[in-house]
Amino acid sequence: MHSRIAGTGRYLPERVLTNDELALNVATSDEWIRTRTGIRQRHIAANGELTSDLALAAARRALDAASLSVAELDLIIVATTTPDVVFPSTACILQAKLGARGGPAFDVQAVCSGFVYALAIADRMITGGLAKNALVVGAEIYSRILDWSDRGTCVLFGDGAGAVVLVPSERAGIMSAHLHADGHYKDILCVPGTVDRGAVTGTPFVHMDGHAVFKFAVKVLAEVAHEALTANRKTTADIDWLIPHQANIRIMDATAKKLELPLDRVISTVGAHANTSAASIPLALDVAVRDGRIREGQYLMLVGVGGGFTWGSVFVRW
Ligand code: ACO
Repeated sequence: MHSRIAGTGRYLPERVLTNDELALNVATSDEWIRTRTGIRQRHIAANGELTSDLALAAARRALDAASLSVAELDLIIVATTTPDVVFPSTACILQAKLGARGGPAFDVQAVCSGFVYALAIADRMITGGLAKNALVVGAEIYSRILDWSDRGTCVLFGDGAGAVVLVPSERAGIMSAHLHADGHYKDILCVPGTVDRGAVTGTPFVHMDGHAVFKFAVKVLAEVAHEALTANRKTTADIDWLIPHQANIRIMDATAKKLELPLDRVISTVGAHANTSAASIPLALDVAVRDGRIREGQYLMLVGVGGGFTWGSVFVRW
């Protein structure tokens, strides 16, 4: 028994914030942002729009694409760092909004690696007989945890959601998953604040050491892709599409270079939506599925890295 992805979907909030618009309020420029990151614009959730709303729109599209009804779903996992509330989980809120009930629903908190973690868990739950049809969503509203006066971070992130439906399969769709973390790097990318007796303590905004993050990300993304290739007895030449966490075009290019993979086999959507953390891989996946680049039988290497630090890969046969 294996699992495979039967459908994908994505949702980006209507409001687009361009680099030029951002430069009206903070000392930056379109040229600086584009050349350092590849980002052209980001989407911003409307007031009152919640992470579960973004997740719901992406989930409905993935369910449609998979021709699966809500009643057939028996597992919902949401990867998010920006949940609607402290609890219940965004997955439970999404379950209610979808009109599903009964099956397990929970959030995964692995920051930008969250989708890869969640997909690995859903695969093991299906192959282990704990679930049949799973909805796996990455959804984030980073615009609410950014200090919009800090040009070092606010230019990098955006809001969005991506989703997949995972179903049982006789042939392997999910070929392997490799997950890692090293909490010793917890301080180089974090939101160090919390809620304490009714007040926010610490800093409730993204804090980042950009240089350290860059170096760490490139190293582990290439390593974990190699780990997956070795486990599957494949080489870089077998990867049809590398779908990395969409943080920054330079991180993606450097990872591809380390893997000796041509850049035209890297799916890159970061320019259109910036870094959407746990949503970025399923967003990029959905774009490439719907524009026809991803075709049956191809091999996809999904690689994520994020705060924690966490990182991981899922190797997929489409
Ligand atoms: N606009 C204009 N100037 C800026 C901006 C900005 N938005 N941000 C920083 N600068 C300035 C700095 O103040 C500095 O000025 P100075 O020389 O006068 O001190 C100058 O630009 C160069 O700063 P650096 O930090 O050296 O710029 P660098 O070329 O390294 O790029 C960046 C910074 C883009 C953050 C880079 O380090 C990077 O890509 N890091 C990875 C971070 C990342 O992608 N994070 C996403 C989250 S991580 C994840 O998802 C896993």
